[in-house]
Amino acid sequence: MADRTRLVAAETVVENGSWLFTVSDQYGEPDEVILVPCEDGPRANGGENSGGDEVRAWVNRCTHEAQRLDRGFGAAMRNGEIICPKHGSMFDACSGYCDNGDAADTTLVDVDVTVEDGEVYLTDDSYEFAHEGSIEDGGEEVDGGDGEDGDGGTEDDRSGDEDGDDEDLPSWATDDEDDDDMPSSTSHIGL
Ligand code: FES
Repeated sequence: MADRTRLVAAETVVENGSWLFTVSDQYGEPDEVILVPCEDGPRANGGENSGGDEVRAWVNRCTHEAQRLDRGFGAAMRNGEIICPKHGSMFDACSGYCDNGDAADTTLVDVDVTVEDGEVYLTDDSYEFAHEGSIEDGGEEVDGGDGEDGDGGTEDDRSGDEDGDDEDLPSWATDDEDDDDMPSSTSHIGL
């Protein structure tokens, strides 16, 4: 019953081959999700119109290592499978399952989406839509730089010798050892 969020037209996902977006997970951490077209034969309702608006969503991370499937340029797809760019394992775009390579016998982490009237909606309670594109694409707010430097600290801190330790003793008063040098270095006027 999450408030669903419209993501993109399903047609766009089909045309582009994949569509990357960023979410905030249940712990408030950012994560990436890819939408991919699922062309798994004829649709339940649609008969011959296969794959047109079937879309799946997977967390954008290979199950073998923490490798992005879509590195920001679109996921590599072939014959209905998502190809991991690192070691080449291929995941079924519809089921998320991999039966080959280093990631064999694993399944991508799924994210619930639904397609309605040609629009894809995020319907997964565990994720909240953040923005289109990769995590970095929305990174402007990371720094949040209202430099809170030192409004409280004023120049008085410098001028006031409130060190505590020296108390009565000005620095020159401690140079007792140098007294002998005084006469030769200065010219005395008067008396
Ligand atoms: S990181 Fe994807 S197959 Fe190794």
